[in-house]
Amino acid sequence: MQIGLEGIAFDIPEHFIDMRELAGARGVDPAKYLQGLGQLEMAVASPCEDSVVLAAGAGRRLFANFDVDPSSISLLIVGTETGIDHSLSIASYLHLMLGLSDDCRIFEIKQACYGAMAGVAMGINYLLSGKALGKKVLVVATDIARYGQGSSGEATQGAGAVALLLSHQPRLVEWEARIDGYYARHVMDFWRPLDAQEACVEGHYSIDCYLAALEGAYRHYKANGVRAGLMEVKEDVQKRCVACLYHVPYVKMAQKAHIKLLELEAGCAFEKESPVFAAAREDFCRRTLPFLELNSRVGNVYTASLFLSLLNFLEIATQEAVGKELSLFSYGSGCGAEFVRARVSVGATKWMQKDSFRTRLAARRLIGIGRYEEMATACRGRDKEEGRVYLPEKWNLTRSELYLGVKGRKRVYAIDGKILE
Ligand code: CAA
Repeated sequence: MQIGLEGIAFDIPEHFIDMRELAGARGVDPAKYLQGLGQLEMAVASPCEDSVVLAAGAGRRLFANFDVDPSSISLLIVGTETGIDHSLSIASYLHLMLGLSDDCRIFEIKQACYGAMAGVAMGINYLLSGKALGKKVLVVATDIARYGQGSSGEATQGAGAVALLLSHQPRLVEWEARIDGYYARHVMDFWRPLDAQEACVEGHYSIDCYLAALEGAYRHYKANGVRAGLMEVKEDVQKRCVACLYHVPYVKMAQKAHIKLLELEAGCAFEKESPVFAAAREDFCRRTLPFLELNSRVGNVYTASLFLSLLNFLEIATQEAVGKELSLFSYGSGCGAEFVRARVSVGATKWMQKDSFRTRLAARRLIGIGRYEEMATACRGRDKEEGRVYLPEKWNLTRSELYLGVKGRKRVYAIDGKILE
């Protein structure tokens, strides 16, 4: 039974900053951000662009680009760690904004950056169960990554959303639904207390936790593959893969992950500066780095980061990639992780709009550090200011989906000039 990705689309804020300028303002050597972290630009959300707005933007683009009938969706899952209410889910707003039908199951998943991958796994299992009866699954990953101003996490912020359509017509990617590998462990590497708008993080420890989770999920994947009789004990998991994709808090983290994966396959750690280490970096430049352009220019989008990389891959993939495998690794702090494989479908290259992500990036507006700080301050106070309307003109926005503020303790949104209360 064929199951997988039928469509994919993304949304990002309309403004961004240049990482060289951020480095200058913080008194940091720009090489640290550009080469040390691998980040070139960073998306900046204005007060009218929250996680609901970005999710709606991605969902509407998906419906338009892939000609999706809203009534064909019977399961909507939102993965996010930028929730907007202790009770009400983003899925509830999205159900309204996308015009989905009443006979639809909707909910939100929180497991840090792993939430959307958990949603994809649920969606695949739902389709496998046979209960979808011809209907489809929509998974939306949406997040705004915020750390304290001047903190070491500040350079790894970002914002955006990716919408994924899963179905029995995997025009883009066919999921290998028979094997997956998970890992979970309680670790305090990254968290956001209920009253905090910015994340708390033990940065260097979080890198170790990520790599330990990659090892755990990879080993579980392999053990499951062997147990199911689908893999040999000595078989390399990633060897056949045309692309190895990872959760991308920043580009350099994906490099660390790829080298770790190659070490796991080799059964030993590589000495830095050794020829085998250099070869592993070259392999990263061939099978991962080309698909991180979007991540390097948007920043960390928590749940959506892995799927931004997948979209980047699909847009630049050539006919040679058709029929080949990909590996995908999702990491959510705290922590939960998953390793899976998928296969590029015949016709995938026909369905993706060539270079549309570059067009979208080029349409953004560059802002200075002062304006970025003004937006961050306004976002911090936004949800507490009863009755105040945030005007899109003030933030120089042209988008059709907007968050306008809080009235009667309810969030107010507008779509195509129409207010939704
Ligand atoms: N020129 C070139 N490179 C430089 C440099 C310079 N002048 N100065 C520093 N660098 C390099 C460093 O050598 C280092 O590279 P390596 O890791 O390869 O050694 C890199 O730049 C970063 O330097 P530091 O480690 O000194 O930077 P830092 O102390 O400011 O912290 C960070 C970096 C830990 C990633 C921090 O930005 C942070 O806490 N970010 C948020 C947490 C995060 O992203 N964690 C990732 C794993 S957890 C996860 O993935 C979940 C999630 O989404 C949050």
